[in-house]
Amino acid sequence: MNGFHIVKREKPLDIATQKSSKLKLLARNSSMEVREQTIYKDKMFVIYPADKEDNFEFFYILEGEIVSDDTDEILTKGDSIFFTNLKNSMNFRANTEVRILYVINDSIFHVLSDEMKEIVETTNKVHEKDQYTREHGTRVLQYSYLIAKQMKLKGETLERVHFASLFHDVGKLEIPYDILNKPGKLTNKEYEIIKTHSYHGSQIIKRLYFKNLEEIVLQHHERLDGSGYPNGLKGDEILLEAAIISVADTFDAMTSDRPYRKALPKSVAIKELVDYRGIHYREDVVDAFLKVIEND
Ligand SMILES: [Fe+2]
Ligand SMILES: [Fe+2]
Repeated sequence: MNGFHIVKREKPLDIATQKSSKLKLLARNSSMEVREQTIYKDKMFVIYPADKEDNFEFFYILEGEIVSDDTDEILTKGDSIFFTNLKNSMNFRANTEVRILYVINDSIFHVLSDEMKEIVETTNKVHEKDQYTREHGTRVLQYSYLIAKQMKLKGETLERVHFASLFHDVGKLEIPYDILNKPGKLTNKEYEIIKTHSYHGSQIIKRLYFKNLEEIVLQHHERLDGSGYPNGLKGDEILLEAAIISVADTFDAMTSDRPYRKALPKSVAIKELVDYRGIHYREDVVDAFLKVIEND
């Protein structure tokens, strides 16, 4: 039946593991998640204040016992807690292995997995190595997200744009420091080495649960007419998410200071995107980007 979903116990929508707990995603849409969370005995779990205004979180204990570190209150099977607009984090400890049903009006499942944390750590390592990539990643995320919103993308597509753009250059971790920060023009050989960062990034990202995230990272330097790298993909062979990131990436790279040149004016970067609209960059993506810039 359309819009009606049955989730079998052994087949949740997704599973994420952390050192202290296991999460099963039971139901979701873009603004709501229902998950079953198992917390192992003696492990802590923390509820953090939400960053959005009308936050709502509810959990119901299906099995086991937890104790609040803040009030010493014990909660067991059948007890529930809900919060709205939590201001400080709350700490709990599992007295036994605990299973809880968790409902939240946010979409954060993927952020909670250990794999995600690992990638964030890896990204931080890239950032230590390369100052530019740090701010660049955040800006490319902002532009990409706004483009995706402008294009009315929703749900998992929007989520993939979000994470793939943030991590798009994570493969630079594998590129020697001297090449990444070379003040002069790169030799052909050095440029070939730089170009491997898309592949390395896709390999790092592979361990995440997201479908297609690795392909998006792999494709972020592909161009519509086949002149990009690493695989010279053309047109529809390039994922929409990658096409969005390539526009945001180009704009930010051109308008930032680099070791080998000063930042170019915004107008020059916009001209580049317009000149190569339909050649390097998808027309609908460039149009959405121009609207974003206009509204900025
Ligand atoms: Fe890149
Ligand atoms: Fe980039």
